[in-house]
Amino acid sequence: MDEDKPDPMPFSLEIERLEASGLLRHIELHEMLPSTNDLAIVRAADATLKTPALFVALEQTAGRGRGDNAWWSSDGALMFSLLLEPHRVGIPADRLPCVSLAVAVAICDTIEGLTPEMTGGVKWPNDVYLGDRKLAGVLIECPNTSGQTPPRLVIGIGINVNNSLATAPAEVRSVGVSLCEVIGRELDGTDLLLNLLQALRSRLVQLARDDPQLAEAWRERSILSGRHVEILDGSRKITGEVVEIAEDGALVVQTPDGPTRCYAGILTLAE
Ligand code: BTN
Repeated sequence: MDEDKPDPMPFSLEIERLEASGLLRHIELHEMLPSTNDLAIVRAADATLKTPALFVALEQTAGRGRGDNAWWSSDGALMFSLLLEPHRVGIPADRLPCVSLAVAVAICDTIEGLTPEMTGGVKWPNDVYLGDRKLAGVLIECPNTSGQTPPRLVIGIGINVNNSLATAPAEVRSVGVSLCEVIGRELDGTDLLLNLLQALRSRLVQLARDDPQLAEAWRERSILSGRHVEILDGSRKITGEVVEIAEDGALVVQTPDGPTRCYAGILTLAE
């Protein structure tokens, strides 16, 4: 190794190509942040900020997952938050609970475009798997902008791309996977992000139009069908075998009392 040359960055992004894509009206690229979702939530209150706005960090010091979970944010992962105004895309309020599934499908589209052998799996409501290992997570949040702006939505996405799980904490290493480990080479971050932004746009437009192809896509990629699960939704606990993810985004679970539809909750596999 040439000692004068710095190690290549595991992940770099070309802001000019993101700007030239025409997909975004505001872009912030940060070397390090606590959390891109936290920043997007703060920025959402600024009525002059144009959306879609993208907040990317090459490293996060306090990346968040759903509930109380942390998100392991090593460099080499793609970590960003997209701030949107759903009505501009035509998504009515009653379809908002399906955004996380539409995003998960868009991540599957993107990784499936990398190599024909790869098929993404959707773990309701917001995770993307490769085989039995977690590749990506989605954290959707609704910032309260006190009526100063039209309703806005933060879509936070973390994907293990060029980071090796070998350096991850044991609890992440045992369940996670990264794209470079599966494909066997490092990926171009800008290409991946641009492809994902395109896929997100297409899938969110499908959601706005109630296009049945979207529900078909999450139904056929669902990794939970036939699995025994327990879902905790507030004080409600649902236990049973997963039937499918329905067209309205509900997870349909066969319980002793019959089929039950779940729209939210913390899910654990019961086997
Ligand atoms: C999950 O798996 O529970 C969701 C993980 C979401 C992680 C991403 S990384 C970019 C954005 N900023 C955060 O703090 N979280 C999301």
